[in-house]
Amino acid sequence: MKDINFRKIRIAICLFILIGLTACFSCSDEKQEPEKPKKPQPETLRDSPFPIGAALNPNSLKTNVNYRELVQKELGSLTPENQMKMWTITKGRGEYFWDDADFMADFARSNNIRLHGHCLVWYKDGTRTNSNMQWLINFQGTKEEWKQVMREYILAVAGRYKGKVASWDVVNEAIRDDGSFRGEDDIWCKNIGAPEYIDWAFHCAHEADPDALLFYNDYGHEYSTTKQQAINDLIKGMIERGVPIHGIGLQMHTNVNRNIVDLRNAINFAAQTGLKVHVSELDVAVNTSKNPSAEFTTELQDAQYRSYMMVSATMAALPEEQQYGITTWGLQDPVTTPPDWPLMFDSNYQRKKAYQGIMNGISE
Ligand code: G3I
Repeated sequence: MKDINFRKIRIAICLFILIGLTACFSCSDEKQEPEKPKKPQPETLRDSPFPIGAALNPNSLKTNVNYRELVQKELGSLTPENQMKMWTITKGRGEYFWDDADFMADFARSNNIRLHGHCLVWYKDGTRTNSNMQWLINFQGTKEEWKQVMREYILAVAGRYKGKVASWDVVNEAIRDDGSFRGEDDIWCKNIGAPEYIDWAFHCAHEADPDALLFYNDYGHEYSTTKQQAINDLIKGMIERGVPIHGIGLQMHTNVNRNIVDLRNAINFAAQTGLKVHVSELDVAVNTSKNPSAEFTTELQDAQYRSYMMVSATMAALPEEQQYGITTWGLQDPVTTPPDWPLMFDSNYQRKKAYQGIMNGISE
């Protein structure tokens, strides 16, 4: 009798445990997604699903073998930092210096790296009083004559690099943080009017190189919803007016204090234009207080890792045809006072946690 009772109790306990375990598993199935297999990680940035590059300068490419070899090993895209700007290419109307821009174009081509041209029209070129830009600053003319000056310049530059430049920042930074055009501060806006000068620049670039992808590039998407809205509105208007525009560039000069959700929202908001999205000048500063004795602590490295990872994960989640890629503004951390460490490679050309952030974001 005692035996039978013990057996019954043992069976009851087993059943109880079994039911408990089953319930527990089915309930954890509902709550927790099974681990998604991670995509295989590329070995270098060059193997990433969208191009990852940097703004480069010809002097370092020519004279610094560590710099050059890192570029050749890692980069799928390059943007000349200054060599395709009006202030470096011209000295007078119709007078051009091509050497540095040619070097960048030849380097990109011979190393099979995508070349992103930066930038055909930028109000700041018209503010360089002590430089090659006097010819433009002193120019007097009617609106039509100003349009002619712009057209001549764009046809010359975009025409010369036709077939070599994959894409152009056609107009850079036309909008202020409050969402307005720059008015008197912008030589093109002042003399032609906006958005007319912007449309015109894109038409001229398309005329010069019908195969080049044409971008509107600006900063501040991640910190000003007013500006981000104004940029999307500008682009929407351009599309409605039949202006040939293919992409939106978000410079994203940011820092570790910026909430990473702002970075994701900025990219996704820009993607609502339906155009290709280029994070075009990324850097993530860590020494925002400009402390001369700051150190790059583990906490700061981790915060920077999260920013880089958020940017690449967000890019990777866009529809494939909108993923134009990520470009950092510079290759390796500069050696400066006060110090900062904004990039993916340290000043000795070694991969940082930020680099791993980009990789992990891609393969999420
Ligand atoms: O070394 C040159 C010298 O040869 C030249 O004759 C002289 C003329 O001013 O100064 C030196 O050139 C400086 C150049 O950087 C190279 O260091 C320029 O003065 C200086 O104005 C120039 O600044 C560049 C700036 O754009 C203006 O064109 C920065 O390198 C460049 O990183 C910066 O890039 C911008 C993007 O185009 C747009 N978004 C923001 C981004 C960062 O500010």
